[in-house]
Amino acid sequence: MRFLYLEEIDSTNKFAKEGINNIPDKTVVYTYKQTAGRGRLQRKWSYAGEDNIYASIVLKPSNQMKEVYSNLTQLLCVVLAEVFEEYGIVPKIKWPNDIRVNGKKISGILAEGVNEGAFLKGIVLGFGVNLNVPQEILDNIDQPATSLNIETGKFIDKDIFLKKVTDKFCLYYNKFIEEGFGLIREDYKKRAEFLNKYVSVKVFDKTYEGKAVDVTENGALKLVDKENKEHILLIGDIL
Ligand code: BTN
Repeated sequence: MRFLYLEEIDSTNKFAKEGINNIPDKTVVYTYKQTAGRGRLQRKWSYAGEDNIYASIVLKPSNQMKEVYSNLTQLLCVVLAEVFEEYGIVPKIKWPNDIRVNGKKISGILAEGVNEGAFLKGIVLGFGVNLNVPQEILDNIDQPATSLNIETGKFIDKDIFLKKVTDKFCLYYNKFIEEGFGLIREDYKKRAEFLNKYVSVKVFDKTYEGKAVDVTENGALKLVDKENKEHILLIGDIL
């Protein structure tokens, strides 16, 4: 992996997308100060101080979109979970790719593809990790949130954390592109907090309700509703 450090930027994802032609494959764009971070579903990702991670991995696996690329967020999610565990905490995955600790969000992922017609220029895998967020900032986030320093009681070195994540991601990446989500399916499922629970999942303007029974070979969420009908959801947000 190469690293591209920006002292201050509105959004590492936006920067990576705009500069995709000039940023090589497997480059990590990161900053200590992100002023207009973006989240999934038009949400924002607030700046919570320089001792946290605001990064985007630029990937150029091929010139055409393949189904497995949409699962890269889930690979990064498992990688992040494994790194959190090295710090002695118990992270849980909220489908598709949030990480929570005791029901509070600690990291989020935003993947964006850059295309020109059918030509895939690259994939930008952005992630934000709360490593050292003061409690008063956490209290003002619009959803329950936590930070690794609070969970461990220790200051966390962001450069060490980032290196652990990118090293581990590289370790799995090639095999994952070849084999697909199946490679990590069990690692993902064993940390899934939603399985065997009744959930509401919003997919665009439709909401599905039912029991989350499985995560399929393709990383989709399998839901069984009260009429016993199965729904396979590829995207969405558990409410
Ligand atoms: C989410 O949970 O909704 C996803 C949050 C993703 C935030 C990261 S921070 C680095 C990168 N740049 C952005 O603008 N967003 C992602």
